[in-house]
Amino acid sequence: MTDLSLPARLRAAADLTEARLVAALADAPLPGERLRPPRLLDAMRHGSLDGGKRLRPFLVIEAAALFGLAPEQAVTAGCALECVHCYSLIHDDLPSMDNDLLRRGRPTVHAAFGEATAILAGDSLLTLAFDLLSGPDAHPDPARRIELVRVLARASGLGGMAGGQILDLAAEGRFAGGTRLALTLGQIRDLQAMKTGALLAAAVDMGAVLGGAGPEARAALAAYGRAVGAAFQIADDILDLEGSAEAMGKAVGKDDGAGKATLVAALGRAAAGALLADLVRDAQAALIPFGARGAVLAEAARFVAERQA
Ligand code: IPE
Ligand code: IPE
Ligand code: MG
Ligand code: MG
Ligand code: MG
Repeated sequence: MTDLSLPARLRAAADLTEARLVAALADAPLPGERLRPPRLLDAMRHGSLDGGKRLRPFLVIEAAALFGLAPEQAVTAGCALECVHCYSLIHDDLPSMDNDLLRRGRPTVHAAFGEATAILAGDSLLTLAFDLLSGPDAHPDPARRIELVRVLARASGLGGMAGGQILDLAAEGRFAGGTRLALTLGQIRDLQAMKTGALLAAAVDMGAVLGGAGPEARAALAAYGRAVGAAFQIADDILDLEGSAEAMGKAVGKDDGAGKATLVAALGRAAAGALLADLVRDAQAALIPFGARGAVLAEAARFVAERQA
């Protein structure tokens, strides 16, 4: 599918992802499971099926494609990452976190099913991710599967997404009696590299692991992933300011009032926009070693920065 445009490639990755997730969330219990409680399964489906840009599985698939893998050989790992992402969104929206009622154009999982079910749906998507990665569908070589598990676990937890989420809440003053913290630019960049950047960087690193990348190619993709991850959150923060809830499928205009530590708030809109453009250039420069094969990922970096939803 090398001749397809970026939107067509995004759509193809999204369709493959959807089919794999539908299969993973089937009614029938797997060996080792006793039964699948319908309420929990419905909440997991609500939070993960039929929605989202599927950008992370797309990046796994496209990074793996640099090493000659077909999309079907990368989609299970992409789905595992998407499960972690969907879990992070379900928990991010909880009343005790960002307290949001709209996600992907639908009620958030806690709005539809209640808070206890939403917490458990998030937990179960997180564990499903590692179930998917541990099986031969993810990669035929067990050593590669272990490496995929390690990359995703590191990106998701204490020093990655969950760690970034607590820094995000701390900046709002949640653990200081409401007194907001004045973070340095470096601290905001750390926070964002963790809460959002870690999973996006993991996407291309997982593609590299699937493809058996050597250390140089893996390092080049890591630089790309860092730049795209940083760009992604700046774009999200600009869209919180300038986007519409209708296009985004989630509430907008909340970050400023909540006291979120964003580079838009710290630098101003114009400088944040300039930084975004720099990050796209950094991402594209990191792809130079891949020559023409890097064209799709180069275009994806621009898409991340210029997207309207
Ligand atoms: C939203 O991520 C959460 C952030 C990390 C800012 P996406 O914008 O990728 O959300 P979906 O998956 O398309 O809904
Ligand atoms: C979310 O950042 C990051 C994670 C879900 C880990 P935001 O809180 O800005 O994401 P949105 O705007 O709710 O999608
Ligand atoms: Mg948040
Ligand atoms: Mg949020
Ligand atoms: Mg946001």
